[in-house]
Amino acid sequence: MKHSPVILGIESSCDDTGAALIQDGYVLSNVIASQEVHRKYGGVVPELASRSHQKNIIPVVDSAISLANITQKQIDVVAFTRGPGLLGSLLVGTSFAKSLAMSLDVPLIGINHIQAHVLVHFIKDAHDHPPDFPFLCLTVSGGHTQIVRVDDFFEMTVLGRTIDDAAGEAFDKTAKILGLEYPGGPLVDRYAQGGDPKKFVFSKPKVKGLDFIFSGFKTHVLYFVRDRLKIDSGFIRTQLPHLCAAVQWTIVEILLEKVKKAVEETGINRVALAGGVSANSELRRQFFEASFERGWQLYLPKIEYTTDNAAMIAMVGQLKYERRLFDSLDIVPCARYDMISL
Ligand code: KG4
Ligand code: ZN
Repeated sequence: MKHSPVILGIESSCDDTGAALIQDGYVLSNVIASQEVHRKYGGVVPELASRSHQKNIIPVVDSAISLANITQKQIDVVAFTRGPGLLGSLLVGTSFAKSLAMSLDVPLIGINHIQAHVLVHFIKDAHDHPPDFPFLCLTVSGGHTQIVRVDDFFEMTVLGRTIDDAAGEAFDKTAKILGLEYPGGPLVDRYAQGGDPKKFVFSKPKVKGLDFIFSGFKTHVLYFVRDRLKIDSGFIRTQLPHLCAAVQWTIVEILLEKVKKAVEETGINRVALAGGVSANSELRRQFFEASFERGWQLYLPKIEYTTDNAAMIAMVGQLKYERRLFDSLDIVPCARYDMISL
């Protein structure tokens, strides 16, 4: 009897090196090595990221294989992140994936990272039932903020996107203003736990349609904090939980308002979240509340599938394998990759 194919997924688009194995939609292993080196620089340094990927990729893939309890020879397909992302980082994953596919003599499949964030909902242990088509997906990461209408696995339409920063950048940049380390999103989430989100009010942009803008909000936080520090040098230290709660509240409100509008405009009430920012506890709480009030079917990814991971790459690898969407060995990485392209 023919066995279901074992798919290796490789992720190296930014500062995490990931490898995962999937069979029949079930995750056999999912390994991620996060790079600490960027912390002291307050952001990802592209050259250091590619060097770390070079160092990490073999041990990460090896450990994914041994955790899945298989041998290298049992891999039937190699899927890798083709883009978008940092070119140097993508090159490491792409070259490694090509050599491995060639040496194992198996198909090679390039994956669009943003599509993979959306399609993470089809991993078998993600939900009891995956979302039916069509559904809306709010993809919020460090590089992207989009509301996507998903009509089929590879039929996606971007209904709204950010005009400037991504939601993750809005978190990270305001966190930096508050003196928090990179990446600031998870720290804002943690410090906000004890804060009052209404103690400080930050401005929300007025943008027509389903697009997002975060720069006005960020500037408001910057000037507000700067002015308060002139009067009280301990302002951030004493008010940190309230500042974090207010920042988080405002970003979540900006995102939620647009998703409500997208549901009204499309009449689609199946709503999924994806990307690193969908790990945010306040975002999850407010979306849960909204879905309860408005009768949406809400799909929240497991925390390990929110931030960058290779399981989502392997999942799309499986979906493309089933459709025989293979790539040739001359495929090249793509730093800027549109959501709609395959
Ligand atoms: O999806 P992801 O891992 O990488 C990209 O594709 O960009 O997203 C990373 C982003 C970072 O900006 C990080 O600060 C943010 O996700 N993030 C969070 C939380 N966890 C990660 N933002 C707010 N709250 C969190 N709990
Ligand atoms: Zn991502």
